Amino acid sequence: MTELSLTPAPEPEDIEADASLRPRNLTEFIGQPRVREQLELVLEGARRRGQPPDHILLSGPPGLGKTSLALIVAAEMGAAIRLTSGPALERAGDLAAMLSNLEPGDVLFIDEIHRTARPAEEMLYLAMEDFRVDVVVGKGPGATSIPLDIAPFTLVGATTRSGALTGPLRDRFGFTAHMEFYEPAELELVLRRAAVILDVDLRPDGAEEIALRSRGTPRIANRLLRRVRDFAEVRADGAVTRAVARDALAVYDVDELGLDRLDRAVLGALVKSFGGGPVGVSTLAVAVGEEPGTVEEVCEPYLVRAGMLARTPRGRVATAAAWSHLGIAAPPDVTPGGPPALF
Ligand SMILES: Nc1ncnc2c1ncn2[C@@H]1O[C@H](COP(=O)(O)OP(=O)(O)OP(=O)(O)O)[C@@H](O)[C@H]1O
Ligand SMILES: [Mg+2]
Repeated sequence: MTELSLTPAPEPEDIEADASLRPRNLTEFIGQPRVREQLELVLEGARRRGQPPDHILLSGPPGLGKTSLALIVAAEMGAAIRLTSGPALERAGDLAAMLSNLEPGDVLFIDEIHRTARPAEEMLYLAMEDFRVDVVVGKGPGATSIPLDIAPFTLVGATTRSGALTGPLRDRFGFTAHMEFYEPAELELVLRRAAVILDVDLRPDGAEEIALRSRGTPRIANRLLRRVRDFAEVRADGAVTRAVARDALAVYDVDELGLDRLDRAVLGALVKSFGGGPVGVSTLAVAVGEEPGTVEEVCEPYLVRAGMLARTPRGRVATAAAWSHLGIAAPPDVTPGGPPALF
């Protein structure tokens, strides 16, 4: 059976879908009301002054719309956008070349900006603050640095780990947008919009069902919609109703809370083999036959957010919500944990 991946990071198939489903302007961008309002003000203020907007940092988990927002900033300003990423800026020279090719008002998008190598990061400080780069000519004691003016531009940085950003870099952004997980009602709107674009006959109850299982993440919502559509076309009459969505997601092993087989295996091992914990992540990983990294980075963030698993200094602990989700009576002293759906 095909596994349906529920990681929020893009799968190869998502990359094309992401491009066709991306909202093109702020009005089309669903949810994130605070971020949208703040960004509207930042952009409108800049437009009125006839200047490029302040540098913008977009921070939040994968698949919530950071790249989409960066493209929207450029579109709303009628500006060109150049795209790069922290890991691609290994040599400061690559960044210097990009910076000196910018036209006035351009948007420079640096994805995963927390992974930028130190020399390039230091070059960014001066570029962001004074629109200058220092180009080093020659080597050794004879090397000189020549200051070079660059066009006023807007840096848009995206990061899934804002805590990993250095202070000096963070301070140079005029505006930081913190992206939150989406509410089910917002994910329904994301799904309806995608259904129109993909020409899927998505019924309101079907949208509701898929939204609840999408882990607060538009990219996952869109991925589930594509799988449910396959099922609806092959095994039903094409309409995506609640019943069809349920049957489809059962085939793909995605449960009512958006947990997949591995998530349930992790919770099952924690509860059944270790009495609810605390247990170390590597022991837990061995119990489910997975790499510790996969358990830690793929399963745990969502289990923690859904209030089913707590990370404590002594190890991982199952909350009461986890026991009840597995249909097993919890021992009396168990941590209550959060509500089952915490978006
Ligand atoms: N607010 C939104 N409204 C509608 N669709 C959205 C929204 N946010 C994200 N999406 C959908 O989710 C997909 C993924 O969004 P995007 O690539 O912008 O996320 P990201 O935060 O950059 O993820 P990553 O951290 O993996 O780079 C988009 O292509 C789009 O289809
Ligand atoms: Mg992105």
